[in-house]
Amino acid sequence: MAPSQSPSARRRKGEKPAGLRGNVTKKSKSSASQPEPAGPLMACLWTTMKFLLYGFCVLLVPPVLNLAALNKEESVLSEYGLPYDIGWDQTLFLNCSGKGSPTVILESPIGQSSEVWFAVQPALAEVTRVCSYDRAGLGLSDRPHKNITEEDRKRRGPESTVERMVNDLHYLVTSSSDQPKPFIIVGAELGALVARFYAQLYEEEVSDIVLIDPLVEVLLEEDGGVWNEMWLGHLLPSSISMQLSAATGLTRLGLILKLLDLPIKAHNVPDEVVLRQKHLMCRPGHQSASVDEHYFINESFAQIRTAYKVKPFPSSVLLPAWESSVEFLMSIHRNAKPVLINGSDGHMIYRKPKEVIDIVKKLIRKWREVNQRKNRSTDRKETR
Ligand SMILES: *[C@@H]1O[C@H](CO)[C@@H](O)[C@H](O)[C@H]1NC(C)=O
Ligand SMILES: *[C@@H]1O[C@H](CO)[C@@H](O)[C@H](O)[C@H]1NC(C)=O
Ligand SMILES: *[C@@H]1O[C@H](CO)[C@@H](O)[C@H](O)[C@H]1NC(C)=O
Ligand SMILES: *[C@@H]1O[C@H](CO)[C@@H](O)[C@H](O)[C@H]1NC(C)=O
Ligand SMILES: *[C@@H]1O[C@H](CO)[C@@H](O)[C@H](O)[C@H]1NC(C)=O
Repeated sequence: MAPSQSPSARRRKGEKPAGLRGNVTKKSKSSASQPEPAGPLMACLWTTMKFLLYGFCVLLVPPVLNLAALNKEESVLSEYGLPYDIGWDQTLFLNCSGKGSPTVILESPIGQSSEVWFAVQPALAEVTRVCSYDRAGLGLSDRPHKNITEEDRKRRGPESTVERMVNDLHYLVTSSSDQPKPFIIVGAELGALVARFYAQLYEEEVSDIVLIDPLVEVLLEEDGGVWNEMWLGHLLPSSISMQLSAATGLTRLGLILKLLDLPIKAHNVPDEVVLRQKHLMCRPGHQSASVDEHYFINESFAQIRTAYKVKPFPSSVLLPAWESSVEFLMSIHRNAKPVLINGSDGHMIYRKPKEVIDIVKKLIRKWREVNQRKNRSTDRKETR
């Protein structure tokens, strides 16, 4: 955007060429009228050397620049959460705010970290406790540690699959940070798979799950494999190119030149969220975790199919984007309640946060009412 804007703006004002343009013309003039010291051969060598030198700088400067910037930004960013050790030498970044039961846990979309909840979390924190966190490898959380025994790996599930994510989350919110139970788990896209799997494994800890634009296990088989093609042909390759671009420092360059868009496109995105997004776009570890989540999606789907064979899924609230996902989830979840919102998709958690907030608040009120009634009836029994 910006590069096309500024020249036209200059033209409109009819100004003399500004700094950048001035330099470019000067450079091209000087290289054209370069004094040729010893004939065409030397000139040719000279030009080749210059190109090699430029090439070297172009290859080397962006990654070095990027690393320096990443180091500088990290201290600022680590203020937006606390590192919790969940065992196996694995640290996850958790940010909890507010007081009260039930605790709302926010589970991010595929390849994204906790800042997508910037609008939802503070609003819910006014009425209850809310936690958002970065899954292993994403945000400031450690990469999934592969140094665990084969036995543990079988029990906790392979890295970057839903089973491991659920296992990590369980340790994070129970033994490691001890959040008040029960939990309302709000999951978007891949986060919805995590919410369902968690509720399936630890039903007694969960009062409700809310599924926003959920990825469902039949997705890649639907519509004659259109989604599978899309996944293999577009989503996975684009996450891989994001990783390469981050590692080579090209993303940093692209952001500086304003050629790249940030993942969260909405109004009123706070400065700290913008900073976080820029940092994470340039952070190779974060991008590589995103690639892994995309890459192992089939395995995650297989795990949730197995989980369903054990018992039916608990009740849930659906905020669907596709009708087919609604039909499918209604068929396998007890009492699933779809709430159709106009234009609901993965972006609604920051574009239409109010809808999400209202639904969760309703669930909180419902749980409290039921719980108070239970309390009263147990009180009566005790006094009798
Ligand atoms: C959670 O994040 C908010 C900003 O989004 C920050 O103000 C707050 O200090 C963080 N809480 C913790 C415990 O780090
Ligand atoms: C793996 O973990 C063991 C102990 O759990 C530790 O002694 C060893 O150094 C670790 N290896 C690596 C490569 O981190
Ligand atoms: C998922 O698994 C199916 C069956 O093995 C395969 O055809 C498909 O290409 C896989 N898709 C992805 C995204 O890995
Ligand atoms: C959804 O939006 C369309 C137009 O964009 C409108 O006609 C329709 O009434 C809306 N439905 C609801 C339930 O708001
Ligand atoms: C129900 O009782 C328990 C323990 O007696 C208490 O901690 C809890 O806050 C009560 N719940 C409500 C909703 O009043």
